[in-house]
Amino acid sequence: METHVTLPKWLDDYIFNELGAKYCRSNSDMTVIDWDKSDMLNYLGTYFPRSYAEACCILGDYLEADNCLIRGKEAISLFDFGCGTGGEIVGIVSQLKKHNERLKEVHVHALDGNHDALRLCESVLNTFSQKSGIDIKISPIAYTIEDFYDMSVLNKVLQNEYDVIISFKAICEFVTKERFEKDNAYGHIIKTLLPKLKQKGIMLLVDVTSYNDVTKEWLPKMMDAGIKNNPCRIVHKNEGYNQPLYITHSHKASDVSKVAWRIITH
Ligand SMILES: C[S@@+](CC[C@H](N)C(=O)[O-])C[C@H]1O[C@@H](n2cnc3c(N)ncnc32)[C@H](O)[C@@H]1O
Repeated sequence: METHVTLPKWLDDYIFNELGAKYCRSNSDMTVIDWDKSDMLNYLGTYFPRSYAEACCILGDYLEADNCLIRGKEAISLFDFGCGTGGEIVGIVSQLKKHNERLKEVHVHALDGNHDALRLCESVLNTFSQKSGIDIKISPIAYTIEDFYDMSVLNKVLQNEYDVIISFKAICEFVTKERFEKDNAYGHIIKTLLPKLKQKGIMLLVDVTSYNDVTKEWLPKMMDAGIKNNPCRIVHKNEGYNQPLYITHSHKASDVSKVAWRIITH
């Protein structure tokens, strides 16, 4: 599996020179939903590149072994739960294109409760669309999920079935904020999103691997418990407890990101 990625030059120039991103690490158990515009520029320069690398390495590895998800398809639909600034979307779409030259269109539904993050995500995807020649149609969903009720509203809003559903480093915030009280947040979110996944689609869950001080539980353990309680199966996952993945860009060489990830399907 490839574990080292370099941010493409156009993307590096765009986020740091045009959008004003900064490299600045934060503490664990952070809740980005509450961050303001200046914090989001720190996010863009630090965690956006990491998410790009995670998506490239993980989906790249999966598609090397099995590309029936995309074989021959000209259009793909994608839903990102907690998209933030969307680094993972650029990584995912790049890999879909790399493994299927015929890909022309990607329909992206991207949900996030942080409006500054969502605006940056749209800017990046519009630029990516121009640079790559892939027609990326983005439908942003600016919505904060406060509780169980909002999740059932989301269930009604999402009318499509998607080829790919992803969530990168977002469910940890639902755990920290106890959005679903004592329910396992991974389990609850998978339960809501699984019916929105096409029969041959994949759901990719990526998250940080820290011990959560609110639930007093390790997040990867919670992720596995949430998967186990749903009618789905794991088709690919990281080995060991976490996976170190590396990204190099103009502001940091070999920045490491340690994540737990699972690809699940019906
Ligand atoms: C750590 S960021 C990850 C962003 C992106 N997926 C990435 O990997 O770069 C978590 C994202 O989840 C969003 N989020 C957290 N809780 C949320 C909620 N209750 N409703 C909607 N979005 C939420 C935050 O606004 C933030 O953009």
